Amino acid sequence: MNNSLPTTLVIFGASGDLTERKLIPALYSQFRKTRLPAGLRIVGFARRPWNDDDFRAHLLEGMHSYEPEAYDEGTWQSFVASVSYCQGNLDSEADYATLNQALNELEGGPANRLYYLATAPEYYIPAVTHLGAIHMAEETDAWRRIVIEKPFGHDLASAKQLNDVLHSVFREEQVYRIDHYLGKETAQNILFFRFANTIFEPLWNRNYIDNVQITVAESVDVGHRAGYYDEAGVLRDMFQNHLLQLLTLIGMEPPASFNADAVRNEKVKVLAAVRPISRENVASRTVRGQYRTYRDAPGVARASQTPTYAALQLYIDNWRWQGVPFYLRSGKVLPEKVSEIIIQFQRPPHLMFNFPAERVLHSNLLSISLQPNEGMHLRFEAKVPDSVQETRPVDMEFYFRSSFGNGPLPDAYERLLLDALAGDASLFTRSDEIEQAWRLIDPIIAAWASPQAPPLSFYEAGTWGPAEADAFMARDGRQWRSTFGAA
Ligand code: BG6
Repeated sequence: MNNSLPTTLVIFGASGDLTERKLIPALYSQFRKTRLPAGLRIVGFARRPWNDDDFRAHLLEGMHSYEPEAYDEGTWQSFVASVSYCQGNLDSEADYATLNQALNELEGGPANRLYYLATAPEYYIPAVTHLGAIHMAEETDAWRRIVIEKPFGHDLASAKQLNDVLHSVFREEQVYRIDHYLGKETAQNILFFRFANTIFEPLWNRNYIDNVQITVAESVDVGHRAGYYDEAGVLRDMFQNHLLQLLTLIGMEPPASFNADAVRNEKVKVLAAVRPISRENVASRTVRGQYRTYRDAPGVARASQTPTYAALQLYIDNWRWQGVPFYLRSGKVLPEKVSEIIIQFQRPPHLMFNFPAERVLHSNLLSISLQPNEGMHLRFEAKVPDSVQETRPVDMEFYFRSSFGNGPLPDAYERLLLDALAGDASLFTRSDEIEQAWRLIDPIIAAWASPQAPPLSFYEAGTWGPAEADAFMARDGRQWRSTFGAA
């Protein structure tokens, strides 16, 4: 399709938080870096009775709260000159016709369109259906693409239904499902770390790796999202998407090329090889917890059983990973916000040194710190100088900020928006990938509701989850590795 035509980005649900906090700041930043396609128009579509100026003023407020230092009046004015607003109801077909007409007038000829569904999830199906009904997805003289925010479904059945509706209007190649973790520089770097170097890949398997720990810890509580969160819980909110995506990046085989299908084929294979958790082993392979004050939040059911913390032990049943546990954990109101992957290597098979009998040699650890303090740490043993044969673990460190300058790393949405505009779906989730992820999550949620499940555990705010999470590791003779990535 014709990429030289001008493009219109239409943001559905544009009066919401996401547009103000993420999409517009990311677009503005790319505009400042002169990376947006020439002639890009941005059109907000939402119910609020705004005109173009109201919409721009609303966006400006968001800019100030997001990155005041990046704001420059002159640049902002040139940027918002391409931003306009169209009022309409997301569930009214007639309003889509009005929108289409407004877009045609604005474009004044053939133009590509990127439809961005930044709406509440209940509008995904009506929006796609209306776009189909009035032929807004047809690619007669220019391309049409659609970006869908998470959550993508509530379980496998609803994800399949959404995929079916999408596929009745768009081809899969036109669909871009967002998982913002994939847009993080540090997540993208996992593939470069693994496949643009030679020294790590030979070790990246069951012969050298003892276990992998993926931690996505948050210090915030559920805040004003309790209504959504109480229905979702941590498995749907964080594991189905972000943590499983990180697992695929660590676990996948090297793709033959860096294109969307090659990369995503390998990721799907990893998910398909993950051994499902069943009712029989839910007690030994999972932990679920809730922070003590969670039920006090407005919007949370008084007797809510929704987990705000979970830990899983997953196995990837293939030649590379057989027998290597992947421990995944995530929770709210933990001591700090830190996302990190720790690869723990096996201990040396034989010790030639005359260490005292009780002395245990530490395993080598590789930490991939996704946020904050983005970087990598390789921990190994070194001889303590001036000792006979005493050793201590030391770290070899790489920080993005010291190697690549002091500025903050670009927000994930910067990359994802540019990629969707450029037609590169590598960092977006394909339909089969989403469904495979739900295939793993659904049985755990069902098992947690079954009589075989241990009761929900509780934890104090500001701790690393329920005590059961430590016992869960101790049973395997392991422990959660403290994070390198914390501030
Ligand atoms: C979102 C979840 O997908 O990711 C939120 O819905 C969570 O609950 C957020 O806070 C975490 O993202 P990040 O980029 O701040 O780690």
